[in-house]
Amino acid sequence: MPSAAMVIFGAHGDLTKRLVVPALYHLCRAGKLSEHFVLVGMDRTDGDAGGWVQGLKEFLASAMQAAGQERIDDKAWDRLTANAAYMQGDITRSDTYKQLGELLDSLDKKHGLEGHVLFYLAVGDRFFGPVIDELAAAGLTKQVAERWRRVIVEKPFGHDLASAKALNEHILKSLDESQVFRMDHFLGKETVQNIMAFRFANGMFEHMWNRDRIDHVQVTVAETVGVEQRGSFYEVTGALRDMVPNHVFQLIAMVAMEPPVSFAADDVRNKKADVFAAMLPVKGEHVCRGQYGAGHLGDKAVPGYREEPHVAPDSSTETYVAMRLEIDNWRWAGVPFYVRTGKRLTKRWTEIALRFKEAPYALFQDAPVDRLGANWLIIQIQPDEGIRLSFNAKRPGTRMEIDTVEMDFTYAEWFNQEPANGYETLIFDALIGDATLYQRADQVELAWRVVQPALDLWATRQPSGFPDYTAGSDGPACSDAMLKRDGRVWRKIG
Ligand code: BG6
Repeated sequence: MPSAAMVIFGAHGDLTKRLVVPALYHLCRAGKLSEHFVLVGMDRTDGDAGGWVQGLKEFLASAMQAAGQERIDDKAWDRLTANAAYMQGDITRSDTYKQLGELLDSLDKKHGLEGHVLFYLAVGDRFFGPVIDELAAAGLTKQVAERWRRVIVEKPFGHDLASAKALNEHILKSLDESQVFRMDHFLGKETVQNIMAFRFANGMFEHMWNRDRIDHVQVTVAETVGVEQRGSFYEVTGALRDMVPNHVFQLIAMVAMEPPVSFAADDVRNKKADVFAAMLPVKGEHVCRGQYGAGHLGDKAVPGYREEPHVAPDSSTETYVAMRLEIDNWRWAGVPFYVRTGKRLTKRWTEIALRFKEAPYALFQDAPVDRLGANWLIIQIQPDEGIRLSFNAKRPGTRMEIDTVEMDFTYAEWFNQEPANGYETLIFDALIGDATLYQRADQVELAWRVVQPALDLWATRQPSGFPDYTAGSDGPACSDAMLKRDGRVWRKIG
């Protein structure tokens, strides 16, 4: 556990309160932070460390209560925040960084931080480049001997291929790639990391993990939430940019990558980059978008997207997207990867489902079996993280009747899990300098390259018939139609 200061830009922001600080608290409680760890908040708002920390604590305590978790552990909280500092500053001004440098020097002298600093950019993406420029100009990103300086950059990383390239180019003028940690919090999710263990620590599955045995793969990231207070962000982002080239692609990479030579960051990231490089740019006819209208989630009536705060009443932003993707390599050629993600769907449900090719039916021709059910391997990311295998079994009785049954592994049953939001692993990894679960510049660009044709197409063609799915449903009809054309159907959500 290295000593370090962690400077959060956007200290009063939603991300800091909801995810970053709770993750730090969990790490501290688990004894995973050094005694020489100092939290530094930076934001425009006037204030001091005491007020900042108190606000964070109240937020965390009520979130824990709402989630039915135990009370906040005051000792762990105090350990995390006892030395915290807060600096009011305008991140667009150079003198802010001079002041920050002085603050870091004095904290270092006081707490023995060995010069290590992790900068966390929890600010709007338009600030990523300028903040890094200023940090560099003030000498704050300079690494000398053992002293490291690292920067975590949140998503969205660019809004298309050209802007992602420009952003990479911009920040790599001041930083070495090894200093940049591009966040994709899906990679911190336990089940996502488990995919590698599942595939490569077992001799059972890998030999059928290819086009010979797998018919197709379905990736579903269904959410029940709407856009909440994020209307202005979402209006210019939409479901595709928000979820696909980042979260969904990371799920695909875990499933589709070749075994890495080792678990070292670049060995793993090379194999993931290979997957993205082998993906064909998506075709217009293989993309479908939708937008939710008013509906119900359970008993609760919810408004349509166009009625949400900060959303245009005639908005053409998609809140749902489905695609058929192809990975044109030796392992996956001819195996479609269908992906779908959307807001205000029937259930919060994230899964990766691999459908195996059917067994020959011949043997059952004279038995009362209409069709053999498909074999599925389902990696459940949320909720109830686990892995399921569905297969056919004989129904007890005198006749040969077949039913589909399931074998089930759930994390909760096997392991005693501490509450975590996925950011714990990622922040810890950045502190120890392990970038395995972070995105590298080339991966980000390769992923945007695949979805760029859809963005180009949509830029010239307005969607027709929005809103086209009801909140609380399974999504728009075009999504089912896309699979139907291939003679397939989506799995039920939930
Ligand atoms: C974020 C997106 O990156 O991921 C949100 O911006 C989305 O729109 C969220 O809701 C989903 O993450 P999780 O961990 O709640 O599944």
